[in-house]
Amino acid sequence: MDDKVTWWAFDEVEAFMRAGFEAIGVPTEEAAVCADVLVAADRRGVDSHGVGRFKPIYLDRIWAGTQNPKTNFEIVREGPTTAVIDGHNGMGHYIAKRAMQMAIDKAEKFGMGMTVVRNSTHYGAAFYYPAMAVEHSMIGMTTTSARPSIAPTWGVEPMLGTNPMTWGMPSDEPFPYMPDYATSVTQRGKLELYDRIGKDLPDGWVIGQDGQYRNDTKQVLIDLTKDKAALTPLGGLGEDLAGYKGYGNALTVEILSACLSQANFMKALVGMSPEGKPTPIELGHSFMAIKVESFVDPAIFRKQVGEICRQLRASKKAPGAARIWTPGEKEYEIMLFRKDKGVPFNEPLKASFKAVKDKLGLPHKLPF
Ligand SMILES: NC(=O)c1ccc[n+]([C@@H]2O[C@H](COP(=O)([O-])OP(=O)(O)OC[C@H]3O[C@@H](n4cnc5c(N)ncnc54)[C@H](O)[C@@H]3O)[C@@H](O)[C@H]2O)c1
Repeated sequence: MDDKVTWWAFDEVEAFMRAGFEAIGVPTEEAAVCADVLVAADRRGVDSHGVGRFKPIYLDRIWAGTQNPKTNFEIVREGPTTAVIDGHNGMGHYIAKRAMQMAIDKAEKFGMGMTVVRNSTHYGAAFYYPAMAVEHSMIGMTTTSARPSIAPTWGVEPMLGTNPMTWGMPSDEPFPYMPDYATSVTQRGKLELYDRIGKDLPDGWVIGQDGQYRNDTKQVLIDLTKDKAALTPLGGLGEDLAGYKGYGNALTVEILSACLSQANFMKALVGMSPEGKPTPIELGHSFMAIKVESFVDPAIFRKQVGEICRQLRASKKAPGAARIWTPGEKEYEIMLFRKDKGVPFNEPLKASFKAVKDKLGLPHKLPF
């Protein structure tokens, strides 16, 4: 963490963003959800998908007219355990939270629930939604499509989104089992973070038209939207390290997010007209909730999940390795570390919040 970082209390950052969203027409209830999801990411150290995206993604898209500040959450098809929702290009966090809640309510009654969404917008860090299911002693799962970024194995053209498939499972540990990541080696948010702190990309993340790695962060972010660069799938380039498995997982997410809800997919999510004008990016999501009690006593399930994780962490380490982690553990430790500190603001993030304050005339006092 660089020494120019200023920590700002979570509740104050949240209040500022809530006011910002409201000032540009997001209804109070929706603004509260959007601000909460963004701050929740920073609480866990998922800075690539937290408050850093408040202006550059959400406010800028509303200002550009490519996202509706007021959501029309329309249930277009519903069964006892399923639902299809049309988000009408509204606020992705709010749409996703309501859709996950519907899946949870259905699972509460019938053991399992699944909802899918079309015409949504960027819903941020995926963990937030399965974490809701975990609170109800359920397994939660979500997928989302995203702008095309990943090249298929042996290709160089960005075709699939970074497409996370994120699970949350209750455990007897103080944090759930929570694998939450993109199906690419890295994701756009991390490239944006590297851009904000002026860092070059390491080899392995991005492939150019010539099939070689690219390191020039700023230009890569531009070229990704022009089909001149692509992210590598999990496993990396070619077949030696099984990049085709990451490619397959990204493709599974694209199908789950688009084909049940009849959402747009792949190139239809590019967010740019042929003339280079920003257009709406109408995404698809899926949400699943599984009530543990329908299968087994939740206390036994929790203990077993915890035991599996503990046995993995206690297994023999590679020479020189300090410790073995299980998914969700690092985020829990960051949460403890940041609990009383808040969100770390570096210089570009400070500038972004100052610009919002000035443009919207918000009365809030910034600590920098
Ligand atoms: N909305 C979208 O379009 C979109 C797209 C892609 C990613 N995302 C979000 O971006 C965020 C970051 O994604 P990412 O791909 O950069 O994640 P990442 O590469 O930082 O991986 C984070 C995950 O890996 C686990 N992990 C880290 N080190 C580990 C270790 N040594 N052993 C075991 N587990 C370990 C963490 O606990 C966590 O679950 C996520 O919240 C994701 O949902 C959103």
